[in-house]
Amino acid sequence: MEKANWKESVVYEIYPRSFMDSNGDGIGDIRGIISQIDYLQELGIDTVWLAPIYQSPNIDYGYDITDYRSIQPEYGTMEDWQLLLNELHRRGIRLLMDLVLNHTSDEHPWFQNARSSRDSRFRDYYIWRPAQADGGPPNNWTSFLGEPAWTLDETTGEYYLHLYHAKQPDLNWDNPELRHEMYDMMCFWLDQGIDGFRLDSVNSLSKDQNFPDTDKDKIQDSGEDFTRNGPYIHEYLHEMHEQVFSRYNVFTAGETSKVTDSDVLKYTHPDRKELSMVISPEASSLGDQPHDQWQNKAWSLADLRKIIWMCQKDIGDAGGWFGLYFSNHDQPRMVSTFGDQGTYRTESAKMMATFLHTLRGTPFFLQGEELGMTNHPLLTSIKDFKEQQALHYYDVMVHDKGEDPETILERIKAKSRDHARNPMQWNDTIQAGFTSGTPWMPVHPDYKEVNVLKERADPHSVLNYYKKLISLRKEHPIMVYGDFRFILEDHQQIFSYLRSMDGENWLVLLNFSGEEASYTMSDEEAGLIRGGNRLIGNYPEPQHAEDMVSGTLRPYEAVVYRCQG
Ligand code: GLC
Ligand code: CA
Repeated sequence: MEKANWKESVVYEIYPRSFMDSNGDGIGDIRGIISQIDYLQELGIDTVWLAPIYQSPNIDYGYDITDYRSIQPEYGTMEDWQLLLNELHRRGIRLLMDLVLNHTSDEHPWFQNARSSRDSRFRDYYIWRPAQADGGPPNNWTSFLGEPAWTLDETTGEYYLHLYHAKQPDLNWDNPELRHEMYDMMCFWLDQGIDGFRLDSVNSLSKDQNFPDTDKDKIQDSGEDFTRNGPYIHEYLHEMHEQVFSRYNVFTAGETSKVTDSDVLKYTHPDRKELSMVISPEASSLGDQPHDQWQNKAWSLADLRKIIWMCQKDIGDAGGWFGLYFSNHDQPRMVSTFGDQGTYRTESAKMMATFLHTLRGTPFFLQGEELGMTNHPLLTSIKDFKEQQALHYYDVMVHDKGEDPETILERIKAKSRDHARNPMQWNDTIQAGFTSGTPWMPVHPDYKEVNVLKERADPHSVLNYYKKLISLRKEHPIMVYGDFRFILEDHQQIFSYLRSMDGENWLVLLNFSGEEASYTMSDEEAGLIRGGNRLIGNYPEPQHAEDMVSGTLRPYEAVVYRCQG
């Protein structure tokens, strides 16, 4: 397996609005991040993914950009940003900027100009189509928000496409002028010394511009069969690589969705010169109903194994690379989804951390996961939610489809992205030390228990467990490059695997349930496990005399043994 520093990285997502506020306006900012860089160093992460900080009207909190080359004033200035970059680099931490290439804000000057006249020189930067004979939109796609994916522009009498909000018109990547404009802008940031990009929704850039109707009965369809991994996507990414990435030493993580193993291999195999890795929501969306992501679906460890098999074996063995995550700013908190946010909060937070750091692939986690933060109990009425996908889903379901408001609210309370967007918890003072003013999102009421200051002092905290895992990953290349195979493949509570490299085997055992779980390995599996010692685990002491080939795990127990190969 080819070595690369981005394979060995641990990536920490900073959601700037909620990380640290330096001036008391209740909104996190760049100066706030700078004030906490020592914390990042203490944690041991080596790469920061900074969610968008460009100028934006904030309909999607920065994922709707009006100027790709300037900083949103509420976050600071270009000088602040340069200081941030220098301070990160001084501590050996890389910076990935989050770049939204699929769409802009409708307030971007390009779109303002494009919509002013059909003859605008920017018209073709976006995607326009005439109405159908009955005046309706060009096809039947719905956006991620559940409404039609096309909006009629009155002035010029045509519809424009938006896979997301109507205030986020999609760019037309089939236009070479637009592509080159984007490559220039990417070089602008790389020339300032950043280390790479997280590329938002990157496998949607090329669309089937025949715009066929979809026959899927799905609420947030976004034309997925015709907009993901579209006809020219590999050409465009290869071109981007030639024109931009190949000129720098760059780390690129492309956010994708609806990818198969062969798509991912195309995006990430080094011979193809497209992206370093993709990050994809397969695991974090296990509990989503296929026709409506807001509705829950029961899932089993067998479903999770299929996904893990794809990234570990089908992709990993074939030379592709995956960025792994179980939550980010678009998902509820990892503990609430996969673990137990009550009795076993710390155990299950550590169990998920063990999972994330011992798989093959680059781990990504969102600020606050390292404290074991959980979903937000104070978001109870629809007025408490800020993210548009939740608000529009409520509108579509309750107002257009006449569904029961309580049922819809319950779904939103369980799954909203806002659970991941509340302030970081630094200490037990008012507003958790995040701001001296009123935070833009309420602080989670558990901040007196769950905060950096307190967890730093507790050797058994989630925070100290993350630090240990991250430093183990730096010391032991087997965690990055080792081969992968499943153990106990049919177990319904325990997820287990072996990583192997250079005559060493690491056995990982994870109890995904709140009950004790017993296991006995097959003779073949037992033959692989010899002379082990316990490297790390989320319960202070092993419960039983160590006999790794059979045993019992306590609720949400995670343990890693190092054995001879
Ligand atoms: C990505 C972002 C998400 C945003 C969307 C549209 O999925 O992670 O937050 O809403 O793209 O840009
Ligand atoms: Ca501020």
